[in-house]
Amino acid sequence: MRIDVVSIFPDYLGPLQLSLVGKAVASGQLDLRVHDLRGWAHDKHRTVDDTPFGGGAGMVMRPDVWGAALDDVLVPGGTLVVPTPSGESFTQRVAESLTDSTQLVFACGRYEGIDARVAEVYRERGTVVRELSIGDYVLNGGEVAALVMVEAVARLLPGVIGNPESLVEESHGAAGLLEYPVYTKPASWAGADVPEILLSGHHARIARWRRDRALERTLDRRPDLLAALEDGRLDREDRAV
Ligand code: ADE
Repeated sequence: MRIDVVSIFPDYLGPLQLSLVGKAVASGQLDLRVHDLRGWAHDKHRTVDDTPFGGGAGMVMRPDVWGAALDDVLVPGGTLVVPTPSGESFTQRVAESLTDSTQLVFACGRYEGIDARVAEVYRERGTVVRELSIGDYVLNGGEVAALVMVEAVARLLPGVIGNPESLVEESHGAAGLLEYPVYTKPASWAGADVPEILLSGHHARIARWRRDRALERTLDRRPDLLAALEDGRLDREDRAV
């Protein structure tokens, strides 16, 4: 997959050189390109923003500068992702859907955001445009949100995570539940013992215990996720929890 990130602060994307995403880039599984939006500005001050039509506080990013950048960076069939607090929620399902694209272009806005015509015009031209929010809070710009989304998507690409089984049981995975609690050695630490069942070697009972803990956690912390589970996703034993 190719991922392009366009920002006035390309250094913000530095962490993408680290860890699993960094390895995927180094090994060529991920073609990651970070661009400075100011490279497409056309005045000597390299201006990318202006005052909002209709008045109001702050500055808005100019559509002509973004248009020049996106025309150069988007390849046919590429998906334009615009991180914005007014977007649709970015969820694990959305991350999965983004893995179908051959290219993702992240347009990171700053200030009061990007002139609304940019998303509109690219959509009209047939580009898939996803305006996405990573949560109900406001960041200073799209860069941190792009970091979040790139990591969430990149780890789903074949070969990026060493053991693909880790993707199966995690929170927001196929079961639609939060992940059960996990433990490692030592079996006894600070007066707290690992639950006995996990030392028993009874695979079926361990699987049931983990499912029960996942259900309890989800009920306690994210009842909205349980409520959203379709009928038929819970068995009789689940209902007892
Ligand atoms: N830009 C600013 N806040 C954001 C958020 N919550 N999600 C995505 N992009 C943003």
